[in-house]
Amino acid sequence: MPDRLIIFDTTLRDGEQSPGASMTKDEKIRIAKQLERMRVDVIEAGFAASSNGDFDAIRAIAANVKDSVVCSLARANDLDITRAADALKPANRSRIHTFIATSALHIEKKLRTTPEQVYEQARRAVRLARNFTDDVEFSAEDGSRSDIDFLCRVLEAVIDEGATTINIPDTVGYAVPEGYAALIRELRQRIPNSDRAVFSAHCHDDLGMAVANSLAAVKSGGARQIECAINGLGERAGNAALEEIVMALRTRRDYFGLEIGIDTSQIVATSQLVSDITGFVVQPNKAVVGANAFAHTSGIHQDGVLKARDTYEIMRAEDVGWSANRIVLGKLSGRNAFRQRLQELGILPGCESELDTAFVRFKALADRKTTVSDDALLALARECGLAGTHVARR
Ligand code: KIV
Ligand code: ZN
Repeated sequence: MPDRLIIFDTTLRDGEQSPGASMTKDEKIRIAKQLERMRVDVIEAGFAASSNGDFDAIRAIAANVKDSVVCSLARANDLDITRAADALKPANRSRIHTFIATSALHIEKKLRTTPEQVYEQARRAVRLARNFTDDVEFSAEDGSRSDIDFLCRVLEAVIDEGATTINIPDTVGYAVPEGYAALIRELRQRIPNSDRAVFSAHCHDDLGMAVANSLAAVKSGGARQIECAINGLGERAGNAALEEIVMALRTRRDYFGLEIGIDTSQIVATSQLVSDITGFVVQPNKAVVGANAFAHTSGIHQDGVLKARDTYEIMRAEDVGWSANRIVLGKLSGRNAFRQRLQELGILPGCESELDTAFVRFKALADRKTTVSDDALLALARECGLAGTHVARR
């Protein structure tokens, strides 16, 4: 049996908690269908009890998505769980994801209750959820800041009640990779029935470590589900970015040794759809999906990539859905990249000295501009009298 990692996407739930990222029902359905096309294992479609709009969107997604598991979040109370179950009724495969905070800070200051009450509520919630589906996830909110003895007690109880996934959220993005992985490893070792559940990582990016924490949880903690969101969307600084998690696992399969079901060629299309719908622009230097993620500007890099792509590329642009890598011509570009682009534009310098003259003029132009466009290059070729299909046509 291959060792497989479950990719749980929460763009439509935690992602929508980004201030300003709310989506309509139709927009959510479009994103859910694209997530299904990308072969995400679990789609967290929303939080059914939070509003009628969320309920309707979950119901519509449950009716439209056939291949991925469709999930709704629910607080650990009867009303939320029955509402989630109702919204998920049309689903082929459904999951109820119930949660309650387990840290002393949250129990005392937010819930204003006792650990004993949290323990009982968690048990009862999972027991009720199991009446509706045999796929039940339990999250210990603020898990990374919870007392480990208490966590062990609660998690053992909810697994006994039938929870099949145990999620340990780093709700406030406080964890560091080694510590977070050690926590998940220790929980799996100490909880007697831990082998009956899949352990899951859910990390926020407040200190910029969400992806690193999630991957450490998998590599050294033994987690086999990661919760993540497209473009790293999510509450405050966001969640772990799905595209980064997936491409790290694929590119470094030698290190992680895990199977994932994602069709990576759909990554850029999904990122752009989410960006268009939410209006959240993807920064150009964003890993994997940023416009510059596969662009080469320095002459040394351009020369290397043109000779052998793997000198400066660890992934192929095409594998994530870009049409190709980009050689950006500018003042740092070398003669080799200049020649290559001219050739791609159908211009064939007659001899090396013709190319030399044109290259000197190109460098002078590039010194005045940030990048040199194809149109500017064609104009320059015309001025230098270089022969080529485009030059002849114009
Ligand atoms: O960050 C968090 O703790 C959550 C839970 C509700 C899973 O999003
Ligand atoms: Zn979260």
